[in-house]
Amino acid sequence: MMVAPVAPVGLSGSPLQLPADLPQQLPFRFEVASPESNPDSAPARETFVLRPLQKGDFALGFGALLAQLSDVGDLDGAKFDEILERNEASLQRNDAWGVRTLVVVHEVEHQENGTENRKIVCSASLLFEQKFLRGGKKVGHVEDVVCDQNYRKRGLAKRVIQQLLGEAKQKKDVYKVILDCTEANSAVYAKMGFFVTGEVQMRVNL
Ligand SMILES: CC(C)(COP(=O)(O)OP(=O)(O)OC[C@H]1O[C@@H](n2cnc3c(N)ncnc32)[C@H](O)[C@@H]1OP(=O)(O)O)[C@@H](O)C(=O)NCCC(=O)NCCS
Repeated sequence: MMVAPVAPVGLSGSPLQLPADLPQQLPFRFEVASPESNPDSAPARETFVLRPLQKGDFALGFGALLAQLSDVGDLDGAKFDEILERNEASLQRNDAWGVRTLVVVHEVEHQENGTENRKIVCSASLLFEQKFLRGGKKVGHVEDVVCDQNYRKRGLAKRVIQQLLGEAKQKKDVYKVILDCTEANSAVYAKMGFFVTGEVQMRVNL
């Protein structure tokens, strides 16, 4: 299938405009209209929470979500917690290293028995690369963006990425954020302010 090229937006170097109402603090609770709403009545709302990835999130489906993106290898709950701990230590030592991962958790309350189900349905990460160029500023890299197939096109990935971009912008020493994606997905990122640069991704496998 031929994919129409996404028109470059902001190639002139104009700074990214983010929504004025980005949450100042996480966790942040928000509601989205349920896709199963009856068109004849007020739309049912579903509750989500945007927050940093935390210990125990493997049990909330983080591994299963990542598996919708790529091979997760032998990741299990213990290994997940170990990687997270190592990463948190890096972040605390120096915010130029380490990966900041935000997730969206879907919260479902079961009125009948008063229990609550929680499931991670969307995630994206941002990491920073320290440059010698540009007076020692940093480049942000967005990685591992994935939304559960049953929750797509409801604005969840956009929320996560805009939050990460807001955090990067606040740092003042990050001059750009870049990502790699398929041509088909470039339409999604164009909706968040990214533009196609004309560079190509190359790789070797190790
Ligand atoms: C790509 C992906 C992360 C998008 O997640 P999502 O939560 O559905 O995206 P959003 O709902 O936040 O969409 C943001 C915008 O892109 C649009 N969009 C979403 N999917 C789209 C698609 N396949 N084609 C064109 N536009 C799309 C939405 O309509 C929305 O536009 P709007 O701001 O005008 O309303 C999701 O489809 C996914 O996880 N895919 C599989 C894994 C993957 O490819 N990850 C990306 C790796 S680079």
